Amino acid sequence: MSKSPVTVIGLGPMGAKMAAVFLENGRPTTVWNRTAAKAAPLVDKGATLAATPADALAASELVVISQTDYKAMYDSLGGETHALKGRVLANLSSGSPDELRRAGEWASGHGAELLTGGIMVPPPAIGKPGSYVFYSGQETTLDRHRETLRELGDTTFIGTDVGLSMLYYQAQLYLFWSTLTAYMHGLALLGTAGVSAEQFHPFATMSIASLAEQGPMGYMRVITDEVDSGLSPGDANTLLMQAIGADHIVEASREAGIDTRGPAALKDLFWRAVNMGHGGNGLSSVIEAIRTPAP
Ligand SMILES: NC(=O)c1ccc[n+]([C@@H]2O[C@H](COP(=O)([O-])OP(=O)(O)OC[C@H]3O[C@@H](n4cnc5c(N)ncnc54)[C@H](OP(=O)(O)O)[C@@H]3O)[C@@H](O)[C@H]2O)c1
Repeated sequence: MSKSPVTVIGLGPMGAKMAAVFLENGRPTTVWNRTAAKAAPLVDKGATLAATPADALAASELVVISQTDYKAMYDSLGGETHALKGRVLANLSSGSPDELRRAGEWASGHGAELLTGGIMVPPPAIGKPGSYVFYSGQETTLDRHRETLRELGDTTFIGTDVGLSMLYYQAQLYLFWSTLTAYMHGLALLGTAGVSAEQFHPFATMSIASLAEQGPMGYMRVITDEVDSGLSPGDANTLLMQAIGADHIVEASREAGIDTRGPAALKDLFWRAVNMGHGGNGLSSVIEAIRTPAP
């Protein structure tokens, strides 16, 4: 039996790779991109280039969208909404959760259904083991198109609220970016003393491994249990001690002549939690300062 067709709208690095993966899997694939020239390598591999967004929508029930943001979707499809009826838009672009919820209403207002997805890998990893996408929307709709979407990566369904996929996506991205940025801060700091990135790398990887360790002493395991239980004992290391330590990172950065704003933001957060009365508790009580925006 031939595979069901799919349309891919948006041929940046992500969308182009998604279309290529569908084609490699022998799936009939129609593509559309604002800049049509980007479709050429895919057409060479067997893709059909739609002349208009309406033609792209007409080609397949499942329309995978991968663009810079949700504004791009309205710019692309907003003038051809008559063609949306009966389509499933699986939008894997970045946006804010409320923006996604508004997009869900927009789609249903035109007889289409929106599935949103947060794809957690870069282009070369799409379709490879380890690739996964957080989906939210109607699970029955995802089930109907799972066979196709699974070609991009594992389809992790997380809930019916279409905004939820972005919350997961953004939680993961913030973890990723802030961790790597903290690593780069460390490299810049050590670099002022002539230490190379290569020299520090083994020690940094030990720290990261201890964060992710699955056993009861893994730091993320401890924070997870404390946040869920609401208990944050500071027996072995109080937040006050750690806030004073954070002061020293800012001071060390200033002395080294590098930017201080990353560690200063962390220090401010720690001291806000201390001033809320958590100085004698543990590190996990910082979540109370995060939950309470500064005035
Ligand atoms: N790259 C990654 O590693 C990665 C990983 C995970 C998730 N993501 C997310 O996946 C999405 C796509 O990523 P990407 O790297 O491919 O990003 P990108 O390069 O920003 O995507 C560009 C695509 O969006 C289209 N586009 C942008 N503005 C448009 C508009 N106003 N009207 C019509 N089309 C418009 C571009 O069309 P033109 O070709 O005509 O400019 C192109 O097809 C983003 O939301 C990104 O956050 C990316």
